Amino acid sequence: MHVPKDRETKMNKQLIALETALGQSTIEQIKEPFMLERGVELYLKRDDLLHPIISGNKWRKLKYILDHALSCGTHTLISMGGAYSNHLHALAYTGKILGIKTVGMIRGEQPQNLNATLKDLQQWGMQLHFVSRSEYRQLREYKQFDSLPKLKKGEYWLPEGGAVELALQGVAELLDEIDMDYDCLCVPCGTATTLAGLICAAPQNKQVLGFSALKGAGFLIDDINCLIKYSSCHNNEWFVHLDYHFGGFAKQNSELLQFIKQFEEKHLIPLEPIYTGKMLYGIYDLIQQGYFKAGQKIIALHTGGLQGNRGAFNA
Ligand SMILES: Cc1ncc(COP(=O)(O)O)c(C=O)c1O
Repeated sequence: MHVPKDRETKMNKQLIALETALGQSTIEQIKEPFMLERGVELYLKRDDLLHPIISGNKWRKLKYILDHALSCGTHTLISMGGAYSNHLHALAYTGKILGIKTVGMIRGEQPQNLNATLKDLQQWGMQLHFVSRSEYRQLREYKQFDSLPKLKKGEYWLPEGGAVELALQGVAELLDEIDMDYDCLCVPCGTATTLAGLICAAPQNKQVLGFSALKGAGFLIDDINCLIKYSSCHNNEWFVHLDYHFGGFAKQNSELLQFIKQFEEKHLIPLEPIYTGKMLYGIYDLIQQGYFKAGQKIIALHTGGLQGNRGAFNA
């Protein structure tokens, strides 16, 4: 990935080296006859191509958090996630590259056999702590890098999914890579941090839409408002679609899986059914319903996370 000169001078050298080695996130048009009929164009920004592990929104969100952590003299990064967490997967790998210890608080009981994601975490040196669901909920309360109780000197806390304001800066940079005209940006949502980054950085008069991967995620609106409250947004119109969760986080049905299979076969782009697959299903549905006006151009973000496919069918 090309790193602009002004960024190079400010950032940690190890992170610059990492970013320079990343792949290029291209923008590809997704063509379907019904889109032509509706006069709507859909493009996919392929952040999944950035890296096989630190892919999609992972690098975008982690970049400035890691820069801050390194500038604070951090020797250990501590974070939390589920047993198939893309966030912990990217963090463990990055920690190994940067020579920083990592600790992962994993939701639920320790399984007898570690799944492929957890094995990777362990192999990359992450210390795994399995915590009960109630302890996990408690951890969600600690939203700042220094807020985890009993944190020792040199330890740095990252809330679930890297949901802190610093993550928004890295997400914002992906907009600099878009060199075409567009009307609407779409992104899948877990914590909605990536969406918040796009809301803040999108140029004026763009619509920014999130697609929640979770059921009953109305709380995201408050979370987003909280994340963007200190940023100078352009008052773009934004909205979170809450009805494309397919029964809840990591849940899926044959309709979704069929959609993904057909999409992959036709467009030769790999998807996963937890985030980007659900978002694209939602966008297709909305275009068919006439939600978008003729002439509109939509850019959807492929947020990567393809490693999650290893657990998507038994999560
Ligand atoms: C592949 C992928 N896409 C989308 C998301 C959702 O991102 P956010 O938590 O910023 O909404 C995640 C979770 O971080 C993810 O792993």
